[in-house]
Amino acid sequence: METIGIGLIGTGYMGKCHALAWNAVRPVFGDGPRPVLVHLGEATAELAARRADEFGFAKSSGDWRQVIADPEVDVVSITTPNAFHAEMAIAALAAGKHVWCEKPMAVGFADAERMAAAAKASGRITVLGYNYIQSPMVRHIKKLIDEGAIGAVNHVRFEMDEDYMADPEAAFYWKSEAASGYGAIDDFGVHPLSLIHYLFGGVTRVMANLAKPYADRPAKDGGRRAVENWDIASVMLELDGGVTGVMALDRAAWGRKGRIALQIFGSTGTIVFDQERFNEVQLYSASDRATEQGFRTIMAAPVHPPYDRFIPAPGHGLGFNELKIIEAHELLKALRGEPAQVVDFAAGLKIERTVHAMAESHHERKWVEV
Ligand SMILES: NC(=O)c1ccc[n+]([C@@H]2O[C@H](COP(=O)([O-])OP(=O)(O)OC[C@H]3O[C@@H](n4cnc5c(N)ncnc54)[C@H](O)[C@@H]3O)[C@@H](O)[C@H]2O)c1
Repeated sequence: METIGIGLIGTGYMGKCHALAWNAVRPVFGDGPRPVLVHLGEATAELAARRADEFGFAKSSGDWRQVIADPEVDVVSITTPNAFHAEMAIAALAAGKHVWCEKPMAVGFADAERMAAAAKASGRITVLGYNYIQSPMVRHIKKLIDEGAIGAVNHVRFEMDEDYMADPEAAFYWKSEAASGYGAIDDFGVHPLSLIHYLFGGVTRVMANLAKPYADRPAKDGGRRAVENWDIASVMLELDGGVTGVMALDRAAWGRKGRIALQIFGSTGTIVFDQERFNEVQLYSASDRATEQGFRTIMAAPVHPPYDRFIPAPGHGLGFNELKIIEAHELLKALRGEPAQVVDFAAGLKIERTVHAMAESHHERKWVEV
């Protein structure tokens, strides 16, 4: 079977997730090309060597440029903090590599534009880490909408909440730096935006209000350091086709662990979904008998592809890492020239444009066209 050489840069939360996906995609989906774990890069040679041993990579380096320069590497997974994405992705594309880059695409819009231009010029495949669009139940929601199961969609509400920034005494780290972006709307809000783009096409205008629950946090070297971005956002949206929506984001929301809650209201029904319980979807249909009307729970099952590639039994449930395996498979499909469900750098630019429109709206205190 044909093989494809994998490079990985960064081995934290997402780096491990990409490594697991590259290891699992062939056993799960059974098609090719077969990923070969070639070269892993980390911030230090010691950490790179340790992770290469754990993840199964043949070579390691404390300099990410060695990964990109490796002739045996065909695809580079970029899972470093946001501020590195543009430089690493553009260098990888220039070296003729395909790129799988974590979200958000870049911190500044100019960098995102440079990445999209580099992708276009290279003719290589690019994929951004918008894993939630890969969920079998999210795909099923799209099918329900497209088949008219809730009639004409007239309003949507998207909420995303987690509590990893909820503790005011948690130490300052890169996610609170302006260099990592605006905060909730790009670190975070890009995920619901990717769902909006997948389900409804895109956003035409926004009105946003950003907020900072804590002005400063303990600094690593003592004292306190001012928080440089916003953990909370409240956004009004108008979607392609004129549907109105609301997006609420909070990464300092105690008790919320991985909530991406969708309510999609239509002329004949409603769909409700929450990523914290992502193996189920709630569907309400006004055409049910009045005596039985109510939300029904649809459990993920082999009839919701590609769940069937993981488990033959219904209701047993997929996990977060499996979304990344599906994403890796979509990337391989794109490489084979098949239609693939991915957000490439060109599509990612539309999401970035929406994020920057939100920031502008907040600063200008007005609606902004995307
Ligand atoms: N798709 C998702 O659901 C999701 C979830 C979490 C994070 N992310 C994104 O993934 C990216 C990484 O986040 P994370 O939570 O994995 O961060 P992390 O801090 O856990 O890992 C980052 C890794 O990058 C390494 N690194 C830093 N500088 C480097 C350099 N110059 N060369 C090589 N390696 C370097 C660090 O040592 C670390 O291992 C971010 O862009 C983040 O937004 C995506």
